[in-house]
Amino acid sequence: MAQRKSTKRNSSDTQTNMHRNHASIKTTSHQGKRIAKTTLLLVFSIFISACLLSFLGCFDYTTLAGLKQVTTIVKPPVITLHRFPHQCGVVQNQTQSVSENGTNNNKLRSSHSRSSTCPTYFRWIHEDLRPWREIGVTRRILEKARRKAHFRVVILDGKVYAKKYRRATETRDTFTLWGIVQLLRWYPGRLPDLELLFDADDRPTVRSRDYRGEQHPGPPPVFRYCSNDASLDIVFPDWSFWGWAELNIKPWAKSLVAIEEGNKMTQWEDRVPYAYWRGNPKVARTRRELLSCNVSDQEDWNTRLYINDWATESKEGFKNSNLENQCTHRYKIYVEGWAWSVSEKYIMACDSMTLYVRPKYYDFFIRGMMPLQHYWPIRDRGKCRSLKHAVHWGNTHLDQIGEEGSRYIREEVNMEHVYDYMFHLMNEYVKLLRFKPEIPRGAKEITPDSMGCPAKGRWRDFMAESLVMSPSEVSPCDMSLPHSPLELKEVLERKANLTRQVEVWEVNTFAETIGRNGSGYVLKNLQMKHVYCKAMGRRSNETIYMDDSLILSPSNTGACEMPPPFEEDELKTFLENKRGVEKEVEKWGNEYWEEQKKSLQH
Ligand SMILES: *[C@@H]1O[C@H](CO)[C@@H](O)[C@H](O)[C@H]1NC(C)=O
Ligand SMILES: *[C@@H]1O[C@H](CO)[C@@H](O)[C@H](O)[C@H]1NC(C)=O
Ligand SMILES: *[C@@H]1O[C@H](CO)[C@@H](O)[C@H](O)[C@H]1NC(C)=O
Ligand SMILES: *[C@@H]1O[C@H](CO)[C@@H](O)[C@H](O)[C@H]1NC(C)=O
Ligand SMILES: *[C@@H]1O[C@H](CO)[C@@H](O)[C@H](O)[C@H]1NC(C)=O
Ligand SMILES: *[C@@H]1O[C@H](CO)[C@@H](O)[C@H](O)[C@H]1NC(C)=O
Repeated sequence: MAQRKSTKRNSSDTQTNMHRNHASIKTTSHQGKRIAKTTLLLVFSIFISACLLSFLGCFDYTTLAGLKQVTTIVKPPVITLHRFPHQCGVVQNQTQSVSENGTNNNKLRSSHSRSSTCPTYFRWIHEDLRPWREIGVTRRILEKARRKAHFRVVILDGKVYAKKYRRATETRDTFTLWGIVQLLRWYPGRLPDLELLFDADDRPTVRSRDYRGEQHPGPPPVFRYCSNDASLDIVFPDWSFWGWAELNIKPWAKSLVAIEEGNKMTQWEDRVPYAYWRGNPKVARTRRELLSCNVSDQEDWNTRLYINDWATESKEGFKNSNLENQCTHRYKIYVEGWAWSVSEKYIMACDSMTLYVRPKYYDFFIRGMMPLQHYWPIRDRGKCRSLKHAVHWGNTHLDQIGEEGSRYIREEVNMEHVYDYMFHLMNEYVKLLRFKPEIPRGAKEITPDSMGCPAKGRWRDFMAESLVMSPSEVSPCDMSLPHSPLELKEVLERKANLTRQVEVWEVNTFAETIGRNGSGYVLKNLQMKHVYCKAMGRRSNETIYMDDSLILSPSNTGACEMPPPFEEDELKTFLENKRGVEKEVEKWGNEYWEEQKKSLQH
């Protein structure tokens, strides 16, 4: 890594002052964090107020009331090795390959040190469970979730039982259950008795507004793969961590190794300097919109976008969809599908900068990520322009966002932490249970053999590959305390501020381009004008951002309506703000160069 960093992008295109407004925000590889920190200093009062409202508006502050500190789990002593069954090939073959090759099994535990603190995203476990903090989960409340659930999981005396209620898409339920069975092998004897209900569909269903007030004492605790700000679903790692057999996506531990190999094949500076996306556009409007940003004869949005037809891929043996062969571009776009997208972690692991289209949903680990530290935020409305700007920025600045994002995925979202997350989530959940878990009628015990023996083909291979071969030698990481209301507010605000800041850069850059070329450019370039109008038209008055020169832009074509001109005060405020921002940016630049000089002297 270190070597790659130092050789990375020394092509000296980086010192140019392409854009006055943020030309001086240059960072080298070790400056990524700093930029995230310093950017906080910036105050964009006009823009931020609007954003914060929209960002925080859907957040239910009432849930913050009545915070309680929860003590960390007391660790029982570590139990060492125990035998695993050998009844069928899945387990047997895997055991053999381990005994022949001792390195095989150690991948999972490589970087885990004793008594480590859990990654910060674990703190959201407390938020997810907060609705039941006071009232607990009674049998009655639990059973309310039954209607939504695909299956029930019961853990009793260290054994797992499952009862299925309805069919889930593909085999995601099977692989989720498989994952829970592996968790018990990873931390044997350490999971408490519990009962939980799991909905394996994509979109959250427990709307927080349906559970306000007296007549709704408790929302149903539904476990699922993602949620959003308006919902109370409890997020849990998705099935793909143990493999997505239908799409030939290998278990995460193995994919991660393959992607790391792929990363080594193409150094950053040799990567294609455009934003790459490959996926299925049919599942969501936002993806279809994204496709309109593909490079064309008229416009180059700095993107290279491709449709992945999974049906064809499947027929042709998935030769175009290998994840490790997709780390060839400097920028990779993440955009949600029907809900969150499983593709997220593979995209982020590529060492390329992730251009993250503003999401509506969250999975369990995205909540620990920060814009400009782990990814570059892209607007959902006006994606094309936003993408073009991001790529331009990336190609003209040194940054560490791509690497920092990949590091986050590799180190904080590896399988050990996935198991730790499940472990802590279940333990915290059990603290809320107000009844004794029981095995329902018709539930079956599930074991590696009961699941692995009947499995065939890739399904079987993936189970064999993700089978936990021996218990963890270290304890789970130390669970973090809940956010205080103030901390939580700060985190959300910081995220919103950083995202908004990028949007301000975009607008500045764009205004400048137009200003420099004058109205002729706009006239000639209808598409640019169209995008601009669209972006402006959708903003509220206070966020209209317009350069003097923009008044020159034509309205005679009638393609779209121009916003009204600035009021005198408005314009004055706007210019003052802009000057303030520019000064601030200049200051960072100076600070940065000072620091560079100092670090060179050492
Ligand atoms: C176990 O490994 C052998 C030899 O590699 C192979 O022929 C067999 O199909 C494997 N069995 C299963 C169940 O994967
Ligand atoms: C053990 O694993 C390493 C690394 O994956 C591989 O190079 C080696 O050939 C394996 N050895 C055996 C005996 O399978
Ligand atoms: C996007 O543009 C590239 C380059 O012209 C082309 O190869 C690709 O097929 C296009 N993608 C779509 C979805 O049209
Ligand atoms: C975000 O921006 C607002 C408004 O400019 C500012 O008051 C606040 O301190 C910022 N918050 C954080 C956490 O940076
Ligand atoms: C406008 O400015 C951009 C960026 O500086 C330049 O690439 C483009 O050629 C200019 N267009 C015209 C019509 O002058
Ligand atoms: C936007 O402008 C209209 C008309 O000038 C005004 O009535 C309205 O209050 C303004 N909205 C905001 C948010 O300032």
